[in-house]
Amino acid sequence: MTASHRILSGIKPTGEMHIGNYFGAIQQQITLAHESDAYIMIADLHALNQVHDAAILRSNITSTLIAYIACGLDPEKVTLFQQSTVPAHAELTQILGAQVSLGLLERSHAYKDSIANGKPVNLGLFSYPVLMAADILLYQPEFVPVGNDQKQHVEIAVDLAQQFNHRYGEVFRIPKEYIPAEVGTIPGLDGRKMSKSYGNVLGLFEDPERIREKVMKITTDSRRPEEVKEPDTIVHLLSLVDAAAGDQLRSRYLAGGVGYREAKELLAEALIKKFAPLRERSLSLAEDHNYLARVLTKGAEKAAVVANETLHAAQRACGLR
Ligand code: AMP
Ligand code: TRP
Repeated sequence: MTASHRILSGIKPTGEMHIGNYFGAIQQQITLAHESDAYIMIADLHALNQVHDAAILRSNITSTLIAYIACGLDPEKVTLFQQSTVPAHAELTQILGAQVSLGLLERSHAYKDSIANGKPVNLGLFSYPVLMAADILLYQPEFVPVGNDQKQHVEIAVDLAQQFNHRYGEVFRIPKEYIPAEVGTIPGLDGRKMSKSYGNVLGLFEDPERIREKVMKITTDSRRPEEVKEPDTIVHLLSLVDAAAGDQLRSRYLAGGVGYREAKELLAEALIKKFAPLRERSLSLAEDHNYLARVLTKGAEKAAVVANETLHAAQRACGLR
């Protein structure tokens, strides 16, 4: 990826982030965004399909914004914006909705999974892929970095772009998905995948005391310090935070002679050292309402210039202007 590559990606504001999100997604997204001409969107209209409490949604939007900046995303280098503040997203969704067949939407995973799990489906969730196609196509990106679970949505955006271009002439660039290298699953405190739904997470901005307490609760077997041990969650997490320290601990596990208590203390201190500066930044950002508002205003202005140009081209092509 180079500065001449336009990328667009979206983050659904779902609330508190954990270190599984950080090592599994945020870190790579930020690196990628700084290497390219990046548009990164807080996908609040997508979240609205699931979050029906105004205060919670508002707080999720702000905490997602804070998390990305605290983790190092530079709003001077990257166009970071809130989706609903660029009305072109809703307008292009309406235009694309006139092209899309119900069959295509019925095959979408998000919809099928909700039905399979007996969850209520609203029109917003059903047409989720159309809004996501509008999100993407408005910015004419070459690449759309996403996790595997979003691959199908990008394919639908490609389909809709091709259909529209075929019917009305070339308006949209055909985007490609970009799936960053697999980082693997980050384990949580109980050894299963770190996930809010398992209640086994280490929050990204947790205070040091809480990190110590939680790390001490990581599930281990009952081997004594002198015994040989299998590299486990403690080694895995330490390797992510500090590769050299992780290698060293792995060797000591295999040789015998290190107790779980010491291993946990090493991990807790490494986590605190790594995340303390991010936590500090997140706390001071949370106080700086003016700065956060400026970031979103500037982001929306920059995004709207590109988005409106594409929207107008689409409107001209299909006869609306
Ligand atoms: P979620 O909020 O669970 O949808 O996750 C947001 C992003 O973080 C997705 O791209 C996930 O792949 C990533 N992620 C979440 N939990 C983990 C985990 N335990 N290990 C690796 N990646 C994760
Ligand atoms: N649907 C994505 C998710 O759940 C978020 C998203 C919305 C997105 N619009 C996007 C991702 C456009 C990439 C491009 O994670």
